[in-house]
Amino acid sequence: NPRVLSGIQPTADSFHLGNYLGALRQWVALQDSHEAFYCVVDLHAITVEHDPAALRRRTKVSAAQLLAMGVDPERSTLFVQSHVPEHAELAWVLSCLTGFGEASRMTQFKDKSAKQGAAAASVGLFTYPILQAADILLYTPETGEDAPLFRVPVGEDQRQHLELTRDLAQRFNHRFGDTFVLPEAHIPQGAAKITDLQEPTAKMSKSASSPQGIIDVLEEPGPMRKKIMRAVTDTGTEVRYDEENKAGVTNLLRIFSALEGAPVADLEKRYEGQGYGQFKKDLAQLVLDTFTPIRERTEKLLGDEEQLDRLLRHGAERAGAVAARTMELVRDQVGFVGRGR
Ligand code: TYM
Repeated sequence: NPRVLSGIQPTADSFHLGNYLGALRQWVALQDSHEAFYCVVDLHAITVEHDPAALRRRTKVSAAQLLAMGVDPERSTLFVQSHVPEHAELAWVLSCLTGFGEASRMTQFKDKSAKQGAAAASVGLFTYPILQAADILLYTPETGEDAPLFRVPVGEDQRQHLELTRDLAQRFNHRFGDTFVLPEAHIPQGAAKITDLQEPTAKMSKSASSPQGIIDVLEEPGPMRKKIMRAVTDTGTEVRYDEENKAGVTNLLRIFSALEGAPVADLEKRYEGQGYGQFKKDLAQLVLDTFTPIRERTEKLLGDEEQLDRLLRHGAERAGAVAARTMELVRDQVGFVGRGR
C-alpha cells in the first residue's frame, strides 16, 4: 500500500485556514487510498521558547482538531511525536549526514531566527529540518524493485524541507545500502500558500500574522465573519484573479475556490459587477459552514480526555512498532553493534 506521513506543530490554541487548506484537508482525503501516519510534532514545538502548560494543552487540542476534521484513528495512525523516541534517535544519525552549509541554507531557519538574531536562536531550531526528515523517513515503506509511493502532504512552505529529506535519504542509501524510499511532497494546487488577510503578500502564519490576519479553525462565528469582511482588498471593485495587482482579492478567490470546489473563473463570472461586499459575505458563510462542525466536534472530543488519551496511546503503539523496525535496520546499516537477545 502506498504510504503517507505528515506532521503539524502544536504551537497555537487552534489551527488556521492555511493549515487546513494547505495540508490538513489532504490528510483526511489521502487516508482512503493510503496507509497514513499523522503526527503532532511536539519536539518541534520546543525549538522556540515555550510554556509547558500551553504545550500540554495545545498538543491535546491539536489531536482533537485532527480527529474532528476526519482523521480516522482506526484507519490511520494518529500519534504524538514524543511518544515515539525513535524520532529523536534517527534525527541524530541524519544530523551526522547533514552538511553544516547544507543546513545553513534552510530558509525557514533564516526567517525564524532573523526575528531574534541568529546567535540567539537555539541549535534545535537550526536542526529542525533534520528532525523533520527523521519524522518522515521512519515511516518509509520497504524498498525494493517496485517501491510503493511515499507521500507527504504539506503546504508550499515545506518544499525545501522535503528536498532536504530526499537528499538525506538518498545519501543514507548510497553510503549504507538501500533503506529509505524517497518521499514526495504532495502540495495542493491553488491552496498551497494562503496569505494573511491584512497583509496579502505574506503567508498566513501562527507566529507572524496579526490576529486580524489569520482565521482560526476554532474561532467563534462573529469575529470570523468580521475578519473576512475587513480583509484587505484594493481600491477597485472587480472580483478578479490577479496576483500582482490584486493580492488580497486573489487570496480570497483561492480560499473560496478551494472550499467550494468551483474554478476561479466561475467565481469571477458569478460576482461580475457586484463589488466585494456580496463576495465576502458569501465567503464568510462558506468558511463558517466548513469550520462550525469541526469546532463543535473538537469541543466534544476535548470533553472526554480519557478517551483522547486512549486514542493517542493506541496511535503511539502502532507508530512505535513501525519506527522500531526502521530503526533496527538503520542501526545495523550504520554499524552499531546489536545488544543481542
Ligand atoms: P506547521 O505546523 O507550520 O504547518 C502545518 C502545515 O500547514 C501548512 N501551512 C500552510 N499551507 C498553506 N498556506 C499557509 N499559509 C500555511 N501555513 C502553514 C504547512 O505547510 C504544513 O504542511 N515543519 C512542519 C511540521 C512537520 C512536518 C513533519 C510536516 C514536522 N515534521 C513531517 C511534514 C512531515 C511545519 O512547520 O508545519
